[in-house]
Amino acid sequence: MNEAIPQLDSFDEAALEDAFATLTKEVHEAATTEDAETFRLHWLGRKQGRLKLVSEAWLKSAPPEARKPLGIRFNQLKQQIEQTLEAPATVKAVSQGIDITLPGTLRAPGVPHPLLKTMHEIVAVFHHLGYSTNLGPQVETDFYNFEALNFPPNHPARDTQDTLVIAKQQSRPARDRLLMRTHTSPVQIRTMIDQAPPIRIVIPGKVHRNDAADATHSPIFHQVEGLCVDTNITFSDLKGTLDHAMKALFGSGVKTRFFPSFFPFTEPSADVQISCIFCNGKGCRKCKHSGWIELLGCGMVDPAVFAAVDEQRTAQGHQPAYDPKKITGFAFGMGVERIAMIQHGISDIGHFYSGDMRFLEQFA
Ligand code: PHE
Repeated sequence: MNEAIPQLDSFDEAALEDAFATLTKEVHEAATTEDAETFRLHWLGRKQGRLKLVSEAWLKSAPPEARKPLGIRFNQLKQQIEQTLEAPATVKAVSQGIDITLPGTLRAPGVPHPLLKTMHEIVAVFHHLGYSTNLGPQVETDFYNFEALNFPPNHPARDTQDTLVIAKQQSRPARDRLLMRTHTSPVQIRTMIDQAPPIRIVIPGKVHRNDAADATHSPIFHQVEGLCVDTNITFSDLKGTLDHAMKALFGSGVKTRFFPSFFPFTEPSADVQISCIFCNGKGCRKCKHSGWIELLGCGMVDPAVFAAVDEQRTAQGHQPAYDPKKITGFAFGMGVERIAMIQHGISDIGHFYSGDMRFLEQFA
């Protein structure tokens, strides 16, 4: 490598032919032993590159009649070098015994996780109804997760959501203590403090509860919350909206029914059931022979929630905007895992979190 360029004694055809044949061979050998960058520097380097040296040694001293045949051969050599560089696999790889004709490593393109897919589907149904999306933090204060939602401190309603609290918060006022949000409902409060009515939002996200994992429970799971607040919002708007959403998600054949229930932040409250999609309501093992599957909680926003929101708006220098004599609304919340399990007939929630490709590939 980098030997001096030999002097040319003669510039006739035969001498040129000979000289360039030697160089061509040299290029070929270099291509099989050098990596692309070394090869490039070796041949095309601005100061010490072989091509530059050849041009200095031969082109400059050539008699006028030899310039043309020399120039042609010089350009052919240059082309050979450039082509070798453009197909870098021919450089070095060949010498390492790598078979460049073998297919490359196959990487499967990523696809959305089944839970995300279902979450997006739910959100899309409400986007089509004019709702927008809001998000909130997973580490919440007691105020947003409970107090503003009409769960007073020490009230037994808090027992329905076994809460993971952040350590070392005892020195703070109760309402400022941090916890992992147990539901997406605190984002209702955050939204209403920021925004006057009308409101139509969906809130997808992760929630945390101190529940033991089993086939239907996981300490971390996902919800999609909804909130609609305006003048003249009634329980029939709630029923119509959720009936439409369930038909959009599970097929136009499903029926819905509303059962009285209780949540501290809605009054009246209801649990929504859909006719069993496995047996069309006839009764089977999946619906425990009732013909119905319970899917979500909902209700009309409790005036106590509006009062807490307006109190906070005032404290933050906003106008109060949620006078329960003028403003009404409904809210609902559903579990994404539960809906995905019913959609796909999955019997163990743990599959979603296991990362087992045999499970996940079925949703690709
Ligand atoms: N936040 C409630 C829960 O997690 C669900 C819900 C949301 C109920 C909105 C009514 C209205 O259990």
